[in-house]
Amino acid sequence: MAAITMKNIVKKYGDGFPAVNDVSIDVADGEFMILVGPSGCGKSTLLRMVVGLEDITSGDMMIGDKRVNDLAPRDRNLAMVFQNYALYPHLTVYENIAFPLRLAGAKDDEIDQKVREASKTLELDEHLERKPGNLSGGQRQRVAMGRAIVRDADAFLFDEPLSNLDAKLRGQMRTEIARLQKRLGITTIYVTHDQTEAMTLGDRVAVLKRGVLQQLASPRELYENPGNLFVAGFIGSPPMNFLPAEVNGTTVSLPFGDVQIPQDKADRVQGKGLLIAGIRPEHFEDASVVGDKASEGSTFGATIDVVEWLGNQAYAYVPFEAPPEVHQQLEQLEKDLDGESLRTQMVVSLDGSSRIADGDEAQIWVDSSKMHLFDPQTGENLTVDLERAGRIPERDNPKEQAQAERMADEADEMHPPAQS
Ligand SMILES: Nc1ncnc2c1ncn2[C@@H]1O[C@H](COP(=O)(O)OP(=O)(O)OP(=O)(O)O)[C@@H](O)[C@H]1O
Ligand SMILES: [Mg+2]
Repeated sequence: MAAITMKNIVKKYGDGFPAVNDVSIDVADGEFMILVGPSGCGKSTLLRMVVGLEDITSGDMMIGDKRVNDLAPRDRNLAMVFQNYALYPHLTVYENIAFPLRLAGAKDDEIDQKVREASKTLELDEHLERKPGNLSGGQRQRVAMGRAIVRDADAFLFDEPLSNLDAKLRGQMRTEIARLQKRLGITTIYVTHDQTEAMTLGDRVAVLKRGVLQQLASPRELYENPGNLFVAGFIGSPPMNFLPAEVNGTTVSLPFGDVQIPQDKADRVQGKGLLIAGIRPEHFEDASVVGDKASEGSTFGATIDVVEWLGNQAYAYVPFEAPPEVHQQLEQLEKDLDGESLRTQMVVSLDGSSRIADGDEAQIWVDSSKMHLFDPQTGENLTVDLERAGRIPERDNPKEQAQAERMADEADEMHPPAQS
């Protein structure tokens, strides 16, 4: 096993496309690291540079303390677990797992010992003589991992291994991969564009946008302390609500009315003019079911458009108007995030016992202490708790980050955005 360190990694493709721009990520020995971001943000490119399937334009790729930029894939001792598992249909499970060892010319008794060891860990003992075609998706996944295990690889690399599976199987496989990774304690890098996989699997998550690292932190840190609008909007489902906000003292004026925020947060945003407030759906509640907590937050009146009742909870939708400055930033954000939601309505999560219905004039409570306030020009989270936010390159090294953003901008010059 080994740590993997990416230092200032840059990838410009042959046609000049800047796919990865000055990314530095340190994966500790035994750590489960997720690379996440919308389509085209450079996740696969980065992973392929770790394995050696793609040349590195500049920067240092380190495995343990060895620089591997110029090493061929087979000399890097990493195991890539492919999306389609790439099992041989005519070989038994045993022979599929043994394959890399046979290729390396290992002796029969060594092969037998390693295959049986792997099959025990993976609970494949009773399937060793079967063919992959007769196995479930989960069993096939384990065979693919078995093949990686017998090689004694220094790390596992996954590129969206679950994207072809249906939702139920995906959930099962997710748990299975997490369990195996913990048991084997092997360094793992896992690429996904699915924020649920990112949240549930990773020890830490690297969020990428246009080939630029946005934040590197634990799932909880990302969720509670996103460094900017992009991370805030990407992590969480349903996503964080973004609303125009003006701050005076500790009073924040939102489209629905005024709420109070703690003094220390207020101090950080005084005199900044129009801001974007970020509030997660679950930090709202039907004021009539809040109970004791009511005094810890603020209550306001809102016209409810639609309510989706799910039994244990309900989502209520509340449309709002945003001034042009905020609207523009939110539209850009939608594009960056591969737009999946309408940003001019707020999503409010209510307790299942709430009786609020479509068209009601309702009293809604909000835990405004959890609110974040973002600069609408830069997207920066002005109220982030840096102690609990992991690494935000923008804060650590604004100059280097600005340079990375400029490299990413070259992509727009190659393919100018369509004029509308
Ligand atoms: N061979 C290539 N030549 C030029 N540009 C490329 C090449 N391969 C990928 N790209 C570009 O590099 C960027 C990053 O691609 P990459 O495959 O790493 O994205 P990704 O984050 O894995 O996306 P997805 O979630 O869709 O798999 C994309 O904009 C893509 O168009
Ligand atoms: Mg990809």
